[in-house]
Amino acid sequence: MQILLLHGPNLNLLGSREPQIYGSRTLAEINADLVEMAEKAGAKLECFQSNHEGELVDRIQAASREGCQFVIINPAAYTHTSVAIRDALAGVGLPFVEVHLSNIHKREPFRQHSYFSDLADGVICGLGPTGYRLALQYALEKLARPS
Ligand code: DQA
Repeated sequence: MQILLLHGPNLNLLGSREPQIYGSRTLAEINADLVEMAEKAGAKLECFQSNHEGELVDRIQAASREGCQFVIINPAAYTHTSVAIRDALAGVGLPFVEVHLSNIHKREPFRQHSYFSDLADGVICGLGPTGYRLALQYALEKLARPS
């Protein structure tokens, strides 16, 4: 089982970035926890963060070529702007879950539209890093089920 975890712009700053909104855990800590959780289930989780839209598009296309079966993505600010990343996910046809640390529906109106939600298997927001664990659990269960 091969799963890709994608983090969008500014998520490399987790730990110091607006901790009242995004919490105090660093991206490295969050990733390490999830890699361990995947390993215990016999799956391989690859983590990738970028501040650049095209790099995220390239990573999605590469993942599909390399046999990845599921994507967990926090597109961060690109959630609200990126037709390109949406099209990449639609183009490769990989199932995905959209995750946000904060509850985007409690925040500014411009954060309440997502270019991803209508394509996603599901959306998790407002649960902090636990949201990634729940998304990973879903992916592991989905991939373990014979289709
Ligand atoms: C975010 C919410 C986005 O609106 C914001 O631009 C982010 C992070 C979240 O995880 O809560 O960078 O995706």
